[in-house]
Amino acid sequence: MRGPHNILRLIRTGATFERTGAMNIVLDAFEAGPLLRITFRALVWPFRWLGYKGDPTMPPAPRALTALGPAYIKFGQVLSTRPDVVGEELAVQLRVLQDKLPPFSMREAKETIQRELGAPFDQLFSTFSEPVAAASLAQVHKAHLADTGEAVAVKILRPGIERAFQRDIDAFYFAARAIEVLSPASRRLRPMDVITHFEGVVRGELDLRLESSAAGEFAANTEGDAGFQVPMVRWHLSSRRVMTLGWAEGTNIGINDALDAAGHDRRALATRVLQLFLNHALRDGFFHGDMHQGNLKVAANGDIIAYDFGIMGRIDEYTRRVYAEILFGFIRKDYQRVAEVHFEAGYVPANQDVDEFARALRAVGEPIFGMDASRISMARLLSYLFEVTERFGMETRTELILLQRTMVVVEGVARSLDPHMNIWQVAKPVVEDYIKQSIGPQALMRDLAKTTRILSRFGPQLPRLAEQALIRLNNPPPPPKPQRRKARIAWMALGAVLATSAITLGNLL
Ligand SMILES: Nc1ncnc2c1ncn2[C@@H]1O[C@H](COP(=O)(O)OP(=O)(O)O)[C@@H](O)[C@H]1O
Ligand SMILES: [Mg+2]
Repeated sequence: MRGPHNILRLIRTGATFERTGAMNIVLDAFEAGPLLRITFRALVWPFRWLGYKGDPTMPPAPRALTALGPAYIKFGQVLSTRPDVVGEELAVQLRVLQDKLPPFSMREAKETIQRELGAPFDQLFSTFSEPVAAASLAQVHKAHLADTGEAVAVKILRPGIERAFQRDIDAFYFAARAIEVLSPASRRLRPMDVITHFEGVVRGELDLRLESSAAGEFAANTEGDAGFQVPMVRWHLSSRRVMTLGWAEGTNIGINDALDAAGHDRRALATRVLQLFLNHALRDGFFHGDMHQGNLKVAANGDIIAYDFGIMGRIDEYTRRVYAEILFGFIRKDYQRVAEVHFEAGYVPANQDVDEFARALRAVGEPIFGMDASRISMARLLSYLFEVTERFGMETRTELILLQRTMVVVEGVARSLDPHMNIWQVAKPVVEDYIKQSIGPQALMRDLAKTTRILSRFGPQLPRLAEQALIRLNNPPPPPKPQRRKARIAWMALGAVLATSAITLGNLL
């Protein structure tokens, strides 16, 4: 929706950026030209007093966004995953954004549950705790089911959150359009696309049925993964604004002292968390896209528990195979092969030079493999790789950026558990295993079987399809008649003559 409220909201945004000292950072990140800078500053300066002051203990960018409310916090979090858009420096600053907000009231929580689940609250739950966590979109309560006494976690969307988001997203679109007009140079960063991407992410999180279904799919995929748990969805107690999961208790994976006190083997946990992530990405093509320490715990029996399925990544089978081969090429330092894979997959345009590309890839791989084992990073390898491929004309792909960024987070979690971990050594067996399964004779047989299965589905229709094809082959349809166009022109001419006569007649009368 367009309107004056967008302008007011944007003035308040600008004023808050100005007051918190975040304005320059934002203008720098968007590579704003002098015209945009002057226009912005001149517009905002008289309204400085309208801006929020924010929490002065925070760095400027997170301080401004936190003061401006949930949509802005979320926007900052999404941007922190897109260093390709905002630059590495701002992305790192934004990563500290914590979305802890004051909880909404128990009364509102209970009302939402009754309305959404269509039953009196007391019939559903026998106990219901104060919120155990409250973030920008939702909060979580611990409860017990009235009928079975089972402990569950109930996640509830903030009342009115959709409207608040809609209002701010409208203002974001308005701003993006304004930026594209005022600063043509910024078009390279595709401001409108960034907002569309953001809207997509948030819309997904504003419908808890989508999160429930992601949790269900993830749980099914990982059922056989040793030492890993995903809480089970209680579908009959879940809806668009409420999601109920089995309660899963554990120690925070980010607190080493607590893990040690509970007797957990941190080195084993570090290895497992990385291997699980790689398996989900390569084997299943469906991975948890938000694996920070706040979303992981360690159960008493040593299992890693994952929470929060609002952001999941999906990679199709073809892309997974290509990337497994690329990683495998890097592991063997076969840069020529890595280059060829890019060309074979059509990722790099055929008019580029393979040998030159291979040389650029060597410059990516060698420094990383030359590092001390505890500093080797797959995430860094991918990030350098994307830089090079972009230079050689490959388009950026959102799902791969999410993969790379999650890899950064997972490596961080693993390193904090075991600072001396050799990431490559831990990753190698998973990549090799996947290669064995996905490329080679076994995979070929599987592909053939799949193709046959698909073809056989058409079995009963095949005779008819063949007959139709033959008939069409023997009687090709007549080419479109040129007369038709002539006829259309004649009709239009007739219409014009009639209209002119009618107007002339009208004037005469
Ligand atoms: N099934 C569960 N069992 C126990 N605690 C849970 C469960 N689900 C969520 N929590 C707790 O609530 C916190 C917030 O839940 P999460 O789904 O991550 O919400 P948000 O999207 O707001 O981050 C988690 O970090 C975890 O401590
Ligand atoms: Mg969370």
